Amino acid sequence: MESDERVRWRRLLEKELSSARQIHSEGVAQCARQLAKHWGADPDKAERAGWLHDLTKEKSKEEHFALFEQFSADPDETEQQIPNLWHAVSGAWLVFRCLVPNDLEIFSAIRWHTTGCPGMTLLDKILYAADFIEPNRNYFDVEFYRREAFRDLDNALRLGMRWNLLSLLEKQVPVHPRTVEAYNEQTRKQERNLL
Ligand SMILES: [Fe+2]
Ligand SMILES: [Fe+2]
Repeated sequence: MESDERVRWRRLLEKELSSARQIHSEGVAQCARQLAKHWGADPDKAERAGWLHDLTKEKSKEEHFALFEQFSADPDETEQQIPNLWHAVSGAWLVFRCLVPNDLEIFSAIRWHTTGCPGMTLLDKILYAADFIEPNRNYFDVEFYRREAFRDLDNALRLGMRWNLLSLLEKQVPVHPRTVEAYNEQTRKQERNLL
């Protein structure tokens, strides 16, 4: 990636996000690039997806719904009820239409980076994993998750989804059925690997 492009994304994030989230996004971009190199995906696309994945995270409810309308975006019924999931929809569409036009791989990675989904592509998995292992994350067993993402990406994904599901259940908030489906898919894969 040319350094001009990095400057462009950094400037954009300065306008849209708090400094903590700018730092997080840059961390996800770097980490997604490393994972892409390791697993044979396109490092530039992975980095771009990292820079942009949380772009609309600090928008208000009204701004989100205006973006949904503008792009005829499609939050499903469960997504409409969970504000934390809105930025994956509005962000994916904003990037797809205005910033990295017509790049379906980046659209998909941003679209599914919060819930996951069954049948994730390599780039989807890389962004999902980079989001929870980027260098600024510091939960207690993050080092284990970091190693796992470079050793067995599917298992890292399964563990990330498990962690995500457990924390949602603990908070007694709704869980998106797509996360459960994605978790089941990755768990079946691991079971097959153990046979
Ligand atoms: Fe996010
Ligand atoms: Fe994020």
